[in-house]
Amino acid sequence: MSETVKATFDGKEIEFPVIVGTENEKAIDISKLRSSTGYITFDDGYKNTGACRSKITFIDGEKGILQYRGYPIEEMAEKSTFLETAYLIIFGELPTKAELSHFQELVAKHTPIHYDMRHAFESFPANANPMAILSAMFNMVSCYSPHLLDGDYTPEQLVEASARLLGKTSTIAAYTFKKANGRPFSFSNPKLDYSANFLHMMFTEPYQEYMCDPDVVRAMDLILVLHADHEQNCSTSTVRMVGSSRANLFASVASGVAALWGPLHGGANQAVIKQLLEIHESGQSIDQVMERAKDKNSGFRLMGFGHRVYKNFDPRAKILKKACDKVLASLKTRDPLLDIARALEERALEDEYFIERKLYPNVDFYSGIVMRAIGIPLDMFTVMFAMGRMPGWIANWYELRTDPNSVINRPRQVYEGATKRSYVPVDKR
Ligand code: CMC
Repeated sequence: MSETVKATFDGKEIEFPVIVGTENEKAIDISKLRSSTGYITFDDGYKNTGACRSKITFIDGEKGILQYRGYPIEEMAEKSTFLETAYLIIFGELPTKAELSHFQELVAKHTPIHYDMRHAFESFPANANPMAILSAMFNMVSCYSPHLLDGDYTPEQLVEASARLLGKTSTIAAYTFKKANGRPFSFSNPKLDYSANFLHMMFTEPYQEYMCDPDVVRAMDLILVLHADHEQNCSTSTVRMVGSSRANLFASVASGVAALWGPLHGGANQAVIKQLLEIHESGQSIDQVMERAKDKNSGFRLMGFGHRVYKNFDPRAKILKKACDKVLASLKTRDPLLDIARALEERALEDEYFIERKLYPNVDFYSGIVMRAIGIPLDMFTVMFAMGRMPGWIANWYELRTDPNSVINRPRQVYEGATKRSYVPVDKR
């Protein structure tokens, strides 16, 4: 017999079914709670609320497990590429050789943006925040994709919409960087793989082709693979929330960008580098920094350490650390911030305070360091995160759109404002 949970409301006992996921996660199904009892649940920040059933990504934070469609992140990181991972996440299965090459060709075909869209970049000020540009440009892409707006996609339309979004994200990101630096745009090169082409569009100058170091390209691709999905985080839940009103895919991912822009979500890797800069500029020793991090009254935390979900280790950080070491060795970068980062990492990993509290470097610690070493400016870090997260946003949006039971998302609230009172005309107040 299926498991149930009983609760008593005003002396009346009600039984609720328990939903069990494929990895044995359990949830109490309270969908009939309000109609049968008049009560709602209160769960500030949705920390205990399952808002959907999903077949895309599984996380067990206690055990440090992250799986895309059942495949462990460690295997995907070692053996796959970003576009293959994106295919898996969006369509549910690993592609055949023919499917992958078709998808790669389609992404390459849709990477250039419509010529008219280039003019849009002229109207942004040079110091515009790249996330503002990215969000605006996704809505603009929708204007050039009218046949993809209704959202009831055929399989071919889903492939095309995904290829468009993945391709155009890399171009918009690179052109945002060029615009900020007053440099001419570089055309995409369809012969290059996704990450190599992105770096080419970012760094190629009119008379100086960017020479892609394979370790750098691999590290860039790895960052994208590791960020491709992370189940119901703030931006993905936003995409689902917006999509639940039957908003189109482009508008929904634009809202995902807006959610990711917030410093509590997409800004952690920037915070890591900003903190390293502060430490460097203030001339503090590693000892002093460690003491401040452990002193509760200092209000100071080591950025890039600890995680809300992963309580033993962040599996993505373990993987990225190796790539980080490789990139730094390969580029032979001399950067005082990277030296500070290395020293902090070493000290924190053997410090009792950090060991006791299971505070390990998280993915943002290493992604921040790698991106700085590659030459990606600080204000573009969150854009890289968005580029990586695109497959997760698309897959979640599509899963919701094709779920016959999905309804418009409409949470309730506990009202705590004034009770009913009568209006008083302004001259009598
Ligand atoms: N430096 C120093 N002490 C810390 C840190 C840190 N980075 N993180 C947690 N602690 C201490 C905290 O003071 C507390 O100590 P005590 O038990 O003595 O009171 C203990 O560790 C547990 O902290 P918590 O705040 O209850 O842990 P949490 O799970 O609520 O917070 C966190 C997780 C990520 C918000 C936190 O570790 C933190 O602020 N880290 C720095 C910021 C950061 O790197 N954020 C990126 C997270 S990854 C984002 C993503 O995956 O998208």
